Amino acid sequence: MFEALQTLPADAILGVLAEYRQDKRDHKIDLGVGVFRDENGDTPVLSTVKKAERYLLENQQSKAYLGSRGDPDFNVAMQALLFGVEQGSNSRIYTLQTPGGCGSLRVGAELILRGRPGASIWVSDPTWANHVPLLSGAGLQLKTYPYYDAENPGIRFEEMLNGLSKIPVNDIVLLHACCHNPSGMDLTQEQWQAVCKIVVERNLLPFIDIAYQGFANGLVDDAYSIRLFADLVPEMIVSASCSKNFGLYRDRVGSLSVMVEDGATIARVESQVVNVVRGMYSMPPAHGGSIVTHILRDAALRAEWDDELTFMRERLKEMRGLIAAELAQRNAPRDFSFIERAQGMFSFLGLTKEQVQRLKTEFAVYMVDSSRINVAGINHKNVGHLADAIVAVL
Ligand code: LMR
Repeated sequence: MFEALQTLPADAILGVLAEYRQDKRDHKIDLGVGVFRDENGDTPVLSTVKKAERYLLENQQSKAYLGSRGDPDFNVAMQALLFGVEQGSNSRIYTLQTPGGCGSLRVGAELILRGRPGASIWVSDPTWANHVPLLSGAGLQLKTYPYYDAENPGIRFEEMLNGLSKIPVNDIVLLHACCHNPSGMDLTQEQWQAVCKIVVERNLLPFIDIAYQGFANGLVDDAYSIRLFADLVPEMIVSASCSKNFGLYRDRVGSLSVMVEDGATIARVESQVVNVVRGMYSMPPAHGGSIVTHILRDAALRAEWDDELTFMRERLKEMRGLIAAELAQRNAPRDFSFIERAQGMFSFLGLTKEQVQRLKTEFAVYMVDSSRINVAGINHKNVGHLADAIVAVL
């Protein structure tokens, strides 16, 4: 039977990583997959993660099964991080540990389909490439609302509002809480309020994806939309990832939170979600979640983690300023100052596929075909070569 299978193209994002690894040129630059990198191009394990791992090595008593919901302490800690301390034990919110943000998105999609077979979900145009297989693979119908303005880099906000106000009542809308992937362009708090108004008016179900909490303006600011919606809508879903803010990429740590209108519904949600998880991967891996729990519950580690997160956030902002300045210095034929207005890891360069290909083959500069760059891949040593290469292909 396997002869009948067709070879598929490489993944839009992970495929770039594989290509980059094969390149033998010393001056190669990886601006592909979204991982934080320091000035040396490394993605070190956070110091707080190392400390938590040492603690676990000494103190963990058992490796017995945790169950489909994962670690209850992790779930409480994540609920507090996302929804705010005062809502840490909100009886309308059910949170469970998942294998990364991807696991969370998929379980969320499966849960929606259990409640509403054939449901549609509206995603920003564009959205993270992997939203498509994760959500449509579960069976959701994907539709788009306007978001990024490639001509004048920023958000097509009026069009976005217009698009949202035409979404059929009760449909589901996927929103990026911060550090929009792939554009890096985020809504202001006033804009979130306007979006929330439409969501409430049309009784849409907000499905918020937060994969970069702490990378835009800080842990509280970046969760603004979650807390705003939690106060105003009857139901919502939040998918969170700890890959970036805890640097736990390969350990696969995330959470899914489902907020219901009436606390009495929680037991039904729980039975369905646990059933989805059991039939898909049974239960999440425990190690990464234990690290996060320990860091969030230990006051000293928590403060140190805040500092590590601040360092990562500030480095991203610095690299945005650096590449924009280097391009301006070279009189690039386009204004790239918008890169400084974007948040988190990503920005679009606005290049064609052919230009992206030339960057790879002629200059050993790797990025996703859409010309999305991960600004964490920039450093003081490679920025000159990068700016020269971009100007050359333009
Ligand atoms: C990205 O967008 O590069 C990250 O979210 C990593 C991934 O899995 O795609």
